[in-house]
Amino acid sequence: MIIEQVDKLLKVLIVDDEASQRTGLSGMVKAWNMSAETAAEGAEALEKVASFSPDVVVTDLNMPGMDGFQFLGKLRELGDAPPAIVLTAYGNVETGVRAIHELNAFYFLEKPIQPNVLQALLRLAASHNNLRQSNRILERQLLYKGSLGEMVGASPRMKEIFVLLQQAGPTNACVLISGESGTGKELVARTLHALSPRNQGPFFAINCAALPETLIESELFGHEKGAFTGASERRAGCFELAQHGTLLLDEIGEMPALTQAKLLRVLEDSKVRRIGGKAEFEVDVRLVAATNKVPEEAVRGGFLREDLFYRLNVFHIHLPPLRERREDVEKLSEFLVGDLNRKHNCSVSDVAAEVQEAFARHNWPGNVRELRNVLERAVILAGEGTIAMKHLPAMFLNQAAVVAPAAATAVAAPQETDAVQFRIGTTVEEAEKGLILRTLEHTKNNKTRAAEILGISLKTLHNKLKEYGAKEVGAVV
Ligand SMILES: Nc1ncnc2c1ncn2[C@@H]1O[C@H](COP(=O)(O)OP(=O)(O)OP(=O)(O)O)[C@@H](O)[C@H]1O
Ligand SMILES: [Mg+2]
Repeated sequence: MIIEQVDKLLKVLIVDDEASQRTGLSGMVKAWNMSAETAAEGAEALEKVASFSPDVVVTDLNMPGMDGFQFLGKLRELGDAPPAIVLTAYGNVETGVRAIHELNAFYFLEKPIQPNVLQALLRLAASHNNLRQSNRILERQLLYKGSLGEMVGASPRMKEIFVLLQQAGPTNACVLISGESGTGKELVARTLHALSPRNQGPFFAINCAALPETLIESELFGHEKGAFTGASERRAGCFELAQHGTLLLDEIGEMPALTQAKLLRVLEDSKVRRIGGKAEFEVDVRLVAATNKVPEEAVRGGFLREDLFYRLNVFHIHLPPLRERREDVEKLSEFLVGDLNRKHNCSVSDVAAEVQEAFARHNWPGNVRELRNVLERAVILAGEGTIAMKHLPAMFLNQAAVVAPAAATAVAAPQETDAVQFRIGTTVEEAEKGLILRTLEHTKNNKTRAAEILGISLKTLHNKLKEYGAKEVGAVV
């Protein structure tokens, strides 16, 4: 009964150039109470995929115009394609297996078709499709809860990014990721890979800033034995290593101009030639690039070729600095504490409200990486229970009385390290404490120097620190 109900909802697209096969198959499928549409070749089938939204596709391979292989290739590029059952000539198992391996076909069926086998396969493919759909729904629910894969964020700007990641992830399009250091650019690249049909393939990252100009091309494209002095053997480049996967070009603005031109050519023809090599070979690599510069400014400054910029910038994901999305700090802290507990075999349960408040005031010039580092130290120091102020670096203790104006998003620009601000309502005592601790931070805990700056004796400074119970301040710097 349940199966019959499922069948009624099942939409099957039949693709075959022979009219008799189409009529026969669609008659059979309709007799099982499923709905069917037909197409005579690949191009028409692609249109039907868009208009009819089938749950399963049944396709022949030998067809005039766009054949079954090309059609399946295009279907795969759609990213969110329905499963396909391939029909092969009797005894042609090899072709069927190829379709499964290379084109992600769901299954193959030899002709003449055995109706009960086809019916069972259609049901299996449909339930497989349902599973994928519920996975997608789960992903969306997670998104609503403020995470996507290993990415966490509750702010509207991160939610927008999650939506963009889900749209761009399953495609083959290039993505340009920008954002300050530590905002999560590499994590975005990994998430794009995880969301793509390439996720079983490799993810490779190459940092253009870390490689000397002379090495970068050989790293990217590989080289033949003897291509240059020191090339003692043939070596595969990143494009080869990332075959059928994703390649992240980090710090793209640091890539030499000439290499950028060569990269553009590879992107245009999907072909690579090793240095010193004669033959070109096809590469199937999805490219993602990252930069901590504003891409348009990098173009204007001559760091990034304009043509390459347009080629890479099909999707642009800009990660805002953490100080512009303070709502994320709490969620990130929760997530990171869990992760760090696992890493260090600790059992920290939560973060004290006071610590969250200190985090909310901090400017996070090192973004999420800085938050992770602060928490890593705190998780190790606490070991279990609650992370308290005493587990934070001195800088946070010093900030306890140093508060940003209520409406502003940042205390002060990170370069204004010598600025101290107090909210109206701060008591003289709190202000004094803030000033003393901030000055100590400025002198890197050199108390003699701090006392000089503050115009008090070293003894007074010691007494004040004792009064604040700030022994830890000295200990943790
Ligand atoms: N939204 C996020 N959710 C969870 N973890 C995050 C998030 N963003 C960043 N991280 C973590 O912060 C750290 C820094 O992230 P990542 O290395 O991706 O930054 P980046 O922008 O590539 O930095 P850089 O420019 O210095 O290379 C990593 O440990 C990463 O897992
Ligand atoms: Mg990075």
